Amino acid sequence: MTQAKAPGKGFTTRAIHHGYDPYEGYGSVNPPIYLSSTYAFPTVEDGSARFAGEQAGFVYSRVGNPTTCLLESRIADLEGGEAALVTASGMGATTSLLWTLLAPGDEVIADKTLYGCTFGYFNHGLAKFGVKITHVDMTQPANLEAAISAQTKVVFFESPANPNMRLVDIEAIAAIAHRHDAKVVVDNTYCTPYLQRPLALGADYIVHSATKYLGGHGDLIAGAIVGPKESLDQVRFYGLKDMTGAVMSSQDAFLVLRGLKTLALRMERHSSNAQVVAECLAGHAKVDVCHFPGLASFPQLELARRQMKLPGGMVAFELKGGIESGRRFMNALQLITRAVSLGDAESLAQHPASMTHCFYTPEERREHLIGEGLVRISLGLEDPEDLLDDVRQALDAA
Ligand SMILES: Cc1ncc(COP(=O)(O)O)c(C=O)c1O
Repeated sequence: MTQAKAPGKGFTTRAIHHGYDPYEGYGSVNPPIYLSSTYAFPTVEDGSARFAGEQAGFVYSRVGNPTTCLLESRIADLEGGEAALVTASGMGATTSLLWTLLAPGDEVIADKTLYGCTFGYFNHGLAKFGVKITHVDMTQPANLEAAISAQTKVVFFESPANPNMRLVDIEAIAAIAHRHDAKVVVDNTYCTPYLQRPLALGADYIVHSATKYLGGHGDLIAGAIVGPKESLDQVRFYGLKDMTGAVMSSQDAFLVLRGLKTLALRMERHSSNAQVVAECLAGHAKVDVCHFPGLASFPQLELARRQMKLPGGMVAFELKGGIESGRRFMNALQLITRAVSLGDAESLAQHPASMTHCFYTPEERREHLIGEGLVRISLGLEDPEDLLDDVRQALDAA
């Protein structure tokens, strides 16, 4: 009897079983962590055949390791992709992919709101090597249609976008990009495959910061890319092996495999906690606007319902009192932890104007749609009443 593939089973069953047969080897119910940088060749001819790609088998852990490969097959299965490649960080995923897809003279069109380090890589990294970077507001697909050209090779966005929760219509953007032969890359970190499957909506590639919900416990830094196998082989042997070297360790792969087993349960709880807190924020006198895809007042509610299974665990809200009010709210928090990152069991809050986006001028923050009083909370797994108590008392102080 084998449980190796769990084909055709439900999401959580596959998140627990896909790709591993506990009846093989020593019968270990959990997959082993292979701690080896290099692999023995039975003969020099086998070594040659493996290097030439004519014989299956491992060569060196910068290009593949049995534990990271199991994680790759599981993530690919959950995202509905042909293949996946895991990396040392979310930034390692984006950089390994884009260094492979792009050449000088090409253009990337990216959404106006991006995670800060992705923005930095595009504008200070890729741009330095002759790649043109254009930002458009992709909440309106017509803006992409107006900007795209034969030079555009990649269209990149997050949905929801970090940190202000704007959504991008994946299907509409993919249709425009494909008419112009551009590839669509979606950062699916906020949603995970449990909430949103971008490949089924027409995207070509997905990148993840697996540091967040996929790992789920705030104890590692990790990333993943999902896409067509042939193309990901190029990323493995070029972008990852030669350009970034951003390789995931087998211990981290084991932790992400462990995190995936509870992903569906956690995403349900993150979402329900976020719904409760968002509703409290939305009705509060000190809050100008609360951005959460599960609120009736959310301007893209129809798109959220079409594209996402649940609204997710991230809430952003704008305090009427601006930057000082944001700081007072943050300092008053007692249970919710003041920290960047997201997707952990612990609820985490950050104030972009004081923290992740403090190096922007106020004008730049305005231009990239980051308000001065914007606070972002990653709702964890705590009891909802305790989270509400903390948010209410911090609002009193804001
Ligand atoms: C949406 C998003 N993408 C990518 C990253 C980068 O991931 P990592 O920190 O794992 O490199 C982050 C990190 O916060 C993120 O929030």
